[in-house]
Amino acid sequence: MVYTKRKIKKQAIIAIIIVIIVITLIITGILLFKHFTSNEYKLEQIGYNEKEITTLIKADDKILNKALTSDYDKDLIPLTKQKYFLWKNYNTYKEYIKDLATETNTIDYKDVVTKVNVNRNYDYYTHTKDTDMNQGNAILVNKYYKLPEQYAPEDIVEVSNWYAYGTMSIRSEVYDAFKEMFNAAKEEGITLIINSGYRTYEYQKEVYEQYKDANGEEYADSYAARPDFSEHQTGLALDIITYGTSGEEFENTDAYKWLQEHANEYGFILRYPKGKEDITGYAYESWHYRYLGKELATKVKNSGLTYDEYYAYYLDKE
Ligand code: DAL
Ligand code: ZN
Repeated sequence: MVYTKRKIKKQAIIAIIIVIIVITLIITGILLFKHFTSNEYKLEQIGYNEKEITTLIKADDKILNKALTSDYDKDLIPLTKQKYFLWKNYNTYKEYIKDLATETNTIDYKDVVTKVNVNRNYDYYTHTKDTDMNQGNAILVNKYYKLPEQYAPEDIVEVSNWYAYGTMSIRSEVYDAFKEMFNAAKEEGITLIINSGYRTYEYQKEVYEQYKDANGEEYADSYAARPDFSEHQTGLALDIITYGTSGEEFENTDAYKWLQEHANEYGFILRYPKGKEDITGYAYESWHYRYLGKELATKVKNSGLTYDEYYAYYLDKE
């Protein structure tokens, strides 16, 4: 009797031990399976380090999937971290970085995203496309976005001498907006004068060629657009100055300061700001204002971006 009881006890202990071993094996198996099929493990195998893996696991699905389905890519995290990063430009960012890498070791990813977004990885006028005319007042016209051949807007009206130096015309909506702005500025003792408005294809060609003949192509390209590439040909741009100043001196006037503060309220933005020459493609022009409508002009101003950058990120539908 005693013998049987002891035997049963022994068998029970063995059974418990076997169960514990089996359970341990199952748990270990599950854990190993989980480890080897985990994203962390896969990323490690691809070549990402611990810090990168932590970032990628927390990143959104598209970034994580890209990491999991491609070779190791040192640029993936720094590129996707940029505020104005665009997936559609990914391969171009990579190509641009490759070109830069031959010149420098440190990559300025913010600059890469900015430049590629506005096509500055290509030289001016080498990769041009037709601008999307469906954008209406928001159309982008620069050294990459071209107007339809010899484009001429329909709603051009003549500007009264009261507002302009010489004979001038602009689009009627822009004229109305300018008059509103003119009156508001006038109330504060500021006189805004239109120095240039709508330019036909032929006139823009003349302007460009005059610059070129006088100072060469490089100079001409930094101050004047080639025909079919000028905002003036859209009838949506105005050169504004005040009494007693030329364009160059305009930035030192109260009129300029007033426009800095208020132009957006009437639908205008300063189109070629200081310090952004390599993005806009033009020298700083304190006098050149582009009409976008009040809402868009205010958004662009608040973004702190040039219109080229703003358009690329927020409006380009391609
Ligand atoms: N001055 C500007 C860039 C134009 O010619 O359109
Ligand atoms: Zn201008």
